[in-house]
Amino acid sequence: MSGMSLPIEELTPTQIVAELDRTIVGQKAAKRAVAVALRSRWRRQQLPESERLEVMPKNILMIGPTGVGKTEIARRLARLARAPFVKVEATKFTEVGYVGRDVESMVRELAAVAVRLVEQEKAEAVREESRDAALNAAAQMILGQERPNLVYGWQWNPADDEGQTPVEPEESEEGYEEALARIRTEIEQGIHDERMISIDVEEQSSPFMQVFTPQGMEEMGIDMAGNNPFGGSRTVSREVPVKIALPVLEETEAKRRISRTSIYREAVERAEQTGIIFLDEIDKIAMRSGGSGPEVSREGVQRDLLPIIEGSVVPSKFGPIRTDHILFIAAGAFHESKPSDLIPELQGRLPVRVELESLSEADFRRILTEPENSLVRQYTQLLRVDGIEVRFSDDALDEVAHMAEEVNKNTENIGARRLHTMLERLLEDLMFAAPEAGPKTVEFTCAEVREVLGPIVRNAIKSKTIL
Ligand SMILES: Nc1ncnc2c1ncn2[C@@H]1O[C@H](COP(=O)(O)OP(=O)(O)OP(=O)(O)O)[C@@H](O)[C@H]1O
Ligand SMILES: [Mg+2]
Repeated sequence: MSGMSLPIEELTPTQIVAELDRTIVGQKAAKRAVAVALRSRWRRQQLPESERLEVMPKNILMIGPTGVGKTEIARRLARLARAPFVKVEATKFTEVGYVGRDVESMVRELAAVAVRLVEQEKAEAVREESRDAALNAAAQMILGQERPNLVYGWQWNPADDEGQTPVEPEESEEGYEEALARIRTEIEQGIHDERMISIDVEEQSSPFMQVFTPQGMEEMGIDMAGNNPFGGSRTVSREVPVKIALPVLEETEAKRRISRTSIYREAVERAEQTGIIFLDEIDKIAMRSGGSGPEVSREGVQRDLLPIIEGSVVPSKFGPIRTDHILFIAAGAFHESKPSDLIPELQGRLPVRVELESLSEADFRRILTEPENSLVRQYTQLLRVDGIEVRFSDDALDEVAHMAEEVNKNTENIGARRLHTMLERLLEDLMFAAPEAGPKTVEFTCAEVREVLGPIVRNAIKSKTIL
């Protein structure tokens, strides 16, 4: 299974943390831990195979209150590493009807994610080539319609075809290659968009065929009867406008260049070697031993998790998946339980412990604007679509952060998610009034934030309403 190059990025821990810093504020310890785990996996892959098998991954237990970035860090990490990633709630396995094998489903899910990832990458890799080939195929067909003599190399003989104007001498001087190049350019310019050409589509069921069911084709006004002049039995020929034919041809060309089996093989390897499984709400299945039904079931889930985290083989439709080197990141708030309430064997399999800190008012202030996809930016862009330019003065944002902190302190602490609810409330009216209210520029000052959010915040703190 080795020898396949894994496209995992060779980022150093320092670089990984720097990348995570772009979207996540604070939480240095957690960022460092995941960065080390990722790099260590890469380090392991550099070892000779005999030694490689000895190195076990250092699975992580993230401990921290809700809404402080646990899931976000794991998700960003996976994206960074272009690693297959799945997030599962551990509590899902305690639900009624749970049977032991269900725990393995997360590994199968990871494999399916890996397949999609590899498919996308492969299609991307051959895209230019496929597009080029598709364009060529379409150009050849158009050329065949325009000037069959040139395509088939027959000499034009006006005597054969009385009443038709012979081809202009200048035009016939255009050779095959030149004509093809001209038509390609014309296609790219959209000149031939509506021209009908016939394309051959394999009768074998393929993802493409599933999408374009006969019914779908009919709806699109495509002549299903077709007219395949060569009478081939394995492909059907269809008359479609060039603009519809092009993506179809491109897909056919891409398929020709990618093999299914190689996708599955690579995907399994990717899942095994770079996969990340995020086990959320692990604290909810932590429970001291003994007691009644549900507790037993929780402990049962922990026991079922052991072999998967430790390393076992899970069958999947893409092939068996070894779980030895999948990185597991378990996370939980551990309010009602402690990490030491997990069964010892499970604790032992999550050796890297990181605590995430509660976010401060200063963190909130930064979260509002600093991350690349910051909330303020998101709302600004959404409203811009409807012609509203929304601006916030610095002290307006200070006030939002301050109020978020107040509400978290005096009601439920939901971390950075509080910022979402605050901004949603603040912009509620504007979001509703746009686009009729626009186009215009709306500036929020500290006074306005207080005016809109003040009463809501006070009511929430007096627990009259929720925010
Ligand atoms: N440190 C942070 N920096 C930037 N954004 C953050 C940070 N922490 C949380 N957020 C934002 O708050 C939201 C919730 O964060 P996240 O999903 O990571 O919470 P969590 O720690 O996993 O909480 P839970 O225990 O409830 O699952 C996300 O949309 C994220 O953008
Ligand atoms: Mg979470």
